[in-house]
Amino acid sequence: MKNIILDCDPGHDDMVAIILALSSPEINLLGITTVAGNQTVDKTFNNALKILTLLGVKGIPVTRGSEKPILRDLKTAPEFHGISGLDGAELPEPKTMGIQTNSIDFIVDTLQKSKDKIYIVATGPLTNIAISILKAPEIKNRIERIVLMGGAIHDSNITPSAEFNIYVDPEAAKVVFDSGIPITMVGLDVTNRCVFTFEEIKTLKNSKKSLSRIIGHLLWYFAQSNLKYYGIEGAPLHDPLTVAYTINKDILKVKEYHVDIETRGEYTTGATVVDIYGISGKNPNAEVAVDADVGMYKSMIFEAIKFFEKSI
Ligand code: RIB
Ligand code: CA
Repeated sequence: MKNIILDCDPGHDDMVAIILALSSPEINLLGITTVAGNQTVDKTFNNALKILTLLGVKGIPVTRGSEKPILRDLKTAPEFHGISGLDGAELPEPKTMGIQTNSIDFIVDTLQKSKDKIYIVATGPLTNIAISILKAPEIKNRIERIVLMGGAIHDSNITPSAEFNIYVDPEAAKVVFDSGIPITMVGLDVTNRCVFTFEEIKTLKNSKKSLSRIIGHLLWYFAQSNLKYYGIEGAPLHDPLTVAYTINKDILKVKEYHVDIETRGEYTTGATVVDIYGISGKNPNAEVAVDADVGMYKSMIFEAIKFFEKSI
């Protein structure tokens, strides 16, 4: 079993990452630390609480984190996730209030107190992770691996050269990629192949089970925004692939590359500059996902949803 902290900005695909983490016997979810990204941190925090309430899960610490990137103004993504950050279905009001500890203090304290190393799974901008590392550098050797959804070798979504999570806080991403902590970068090159089609989403949307119907309507909303902006015929579930990899490494093919983060480009700020030929001469600082077993991934997600259908 792997101890993980899930740092996220729910967010439709972050929600599925939470469901997958909570359903797996391989994962011990120590806490959900929220960060500003898809929406403001008040909304991502509240969405995390609503998701746990929907699932009937109690006892998982949920914290509110950074309200904005380290240096830049916050850019949110209402065009994809809506005003609430989880538009598309009515979610129950939270039955739990979360904990008063800030995400950064929770990450630092949990790592400092843990006798075993901990996985950090990050599915939003890396602001919380970077500030935690800067605040308490000694935690670096308490982190088993950072498995993050972000960046791309050859793909983009928020500008022609950048992926949203990295673009929102490129300085934070630079701190993380330069930290020396083992990193798995799960980028758009593979997550954009993990598209849940409208037909697959309909099986949830039309289910007899209320939980599946709610998840189906949420994913339908997310799929519609991806169709509108990218012509993608469904919902690319970016974030849960990090959790799926943490559960079973066989789901991804990865290659060791050096990755730099562009923080000063006129057209390229937020780009993950992946040195696939070793031209820079710099040692690899990340394993980068280059392929995924999409069939295995979709089965894991549908099994995770079934798990909660039985338990609530
Ligand atoms: O680019 C995709 C990422 O941006 C995902 O984490 C999604 O939730 C958004 O945050
Ligand atoms: Ca996210």
